[in-house]
Order: sequence, then structure tokens, then C-alpha cells
Amino acid sequence: MTEAWRPDGEDERRGAVGPVRVRVPAKVNLHLGVGPLRRDGYHELNTVYHAISIYDELTARRGDTLALTMEGEGTGELALDDTNLVIRAAHALAGYAGVLPHARLHLRKQIPLAGGLAGGSADAAAALVACDALWGTGLSRDELAGIAADLGSDVPFLIYGGTALGTGRGEAVSPVLARPTSWHWVVAIADVGLSTPTAYRELDRLRDSGAAGAPLGSTDALLGALRQRDPRVLARTLGNDLQDAALAMRPALADTLKAGEAAGALAGIVSGSGPTCVFLAADAASAERIAAELTAAGVCREARVAHGPVAGARVG
Ligand code: C5P
Repeated sequence: MTEAWRPDGEDERRGAVGPVRVRVPAKVNLHLGVGPLRRDGYHELNTVYHAISIYDELTARRGDTLALTMEGEGTGELALDDTNLVIRAAHALAGYAGVLPHARLHLRKQIPLAGGLAGGSADAAAALVACDALWGTGLSRDELAGIAADLGSDVPFLIYGGTALGTGRGEAVSPVLARPTSWHWVVAIADVGLSTPTAYRELDRLRDSGAAGAPLGSTDALLGALRQRDPRVLARTLGNDLQDAALAMRPALADTLKAGEAAGALAGIVSGSGPTCVFLAADAASAERIAAELTAAGVCREARVAHGPVAGARVG
């Protein structure tokens, strides 16, 4: 008798036998409108998320327990215990699907910690997608995004990627239909991160004292610009309500923003709660020049070029 044929990488248990590798992007907010503080401690948001080509990679292998190791950005600083969002994501999926949370997970980080690029949220999204494939739980993206919402406001977006509208506390995501244009970005990474809750608290303080700029309203202008192919039009519509807070906490970011614009960027904004600054470039060559000038000017730890939109957490 011949043995029953099984597709590559599967055995009698459900899921993959070999390692599952998932790549997940960083996000920037092209528009981050922050509304009032809610009773649950979150702020109502009106945001446009955009996934860019700076990636973390999570590899999941079969194991007898749940364990996480890492290399790259933040190694030695990031706790790898039950408080880590990757571990929390694996537990959340296992609980939802009714399977044992057993996996050996290895994270290769390129997204900086506490940078305003949703690195931790990206890793949680990667863990959901990787463990779903490893354990053969076969959930849809929408089901994974439902679990993701409990892990953090940005996690559902990183399951989908692309460009998307975020409402609620950011967890309610709907895709933005835009022309298939690739935008060119320069990402200026700072030496030391900023805490997201502290940035939101600082914004509340600035607003109470009347020192923060007027809240960003509608996303209409930005969504209109995304339907065109002209980066100069898009540049005029970028905005971030948390920028005043990030600048108050880290005044040197004003020099970074100025240096990017002096180097030829069409616009520069703080990404999310900062301190990373992102610059829109006219094209790929311009992005390379701006990155080189920002690095030479010493206004950031490192400047990287990136493009967007890109897909969310994906196997392969
Ligand atoms: O959702 P997440 O855990 O990523 O949020 C981190 C912190 O950022 C929250 O605890 C809260 O202080 C702040 N936040 C907020 N309003 C949001 C999202 C996050 O105040 N919409």
C-alpha cells in the first residue's frame, strides 16, 4: 500500500511542519486626526494608515512550549516574556481557535522600538498570521483582525496593509481605493524612542492650555490626493495631530523636519507618536539624495528609503 499523498509541509497534524516565515511592514499615518479622550482612556481617531517597505520578519517553528527569540533592532531592550505582543498574540489566537499555544518563534527586527512606526503592533500581526499557518487554524484575515483589535489599536491594519482608513481608536479599518501608485518616502529614525501614551497625554495637556494646533479635520483632501499620481498634491495634505506633542517632548525633531525639507523633500511629518520623521520625495532618486543628506546632517540615527503602499503581514 502506498502512503496517502499530503501537500508539502503538512503532516497528520494540521498546519505546517517546516518553518513558516512572515514578513510584516511598518506603518505611517498620512493623516492622524486625534479627537477627544474617551472614557476608556483612548482617543477617538480619524486616520489614514499607509504600510511602507521597512519590514520585520517572524519565523515560527513547531515546538513543545511557546518561546520567543530575537535579533536586530531593540535586542536586549525588548522583554521576550509574556508581556511581549508576539507572545500575547500567540496566546490570543490559540485561545480563540482552541489549540495549544506551542511554537518556537524568532523575530528579526528592522522596525525601531517606540518609533511611531507601529513596530510592536506589526510583530503581533505577524505572530497571528504565522501561528495561524503553523497550527493550520485557517482563519480569515477578518477573523485575525478581530483578534488583533484586542492586542492594540494598530494591529488590525497591519493584518491588511496597503492604505486604509482607521476609525474608532484606530482598530476599525477599511481599505482606501487609490490608484496603483508607489509613493517614495524617507524615514529618519531617532536614537531614542518616545512613549505613545505619553505623547497622547502631552497632546491633551497642550490642548487644555490652548497651545496645540487646531485638530486635523476630514481626510477628504488626503483621500482626493491619493487618487491622483502627483506627490506634490499629496504633500500638501499630510498631517498629524500628535506632531505638536512629539515636538514638545523632543524639540530637536524640528531640526530633522527642516533638514529634510531643505534636502528637497516635498513634505515632512512626524510618524504617529514619533520620534521617527517621514518625508515624501518626488521620486526614488530624490529619496536616495534626501536620505544621504539627512544622514550627513547628523539629525537622525539613520535615514532609510522606503516605498508604499505594501501588503500587510504575509507568509513568504
Ligand atoms: O492601542 P495601543 O495599545 O497601541 O495604544 C497604546 C496607548 O496609546 C494607549 O494605552 C493610549 O494611551 C494611547 N492611545 C490613545 N488613543 C488611541 C490609541 C492609543 O490614547 N486611539
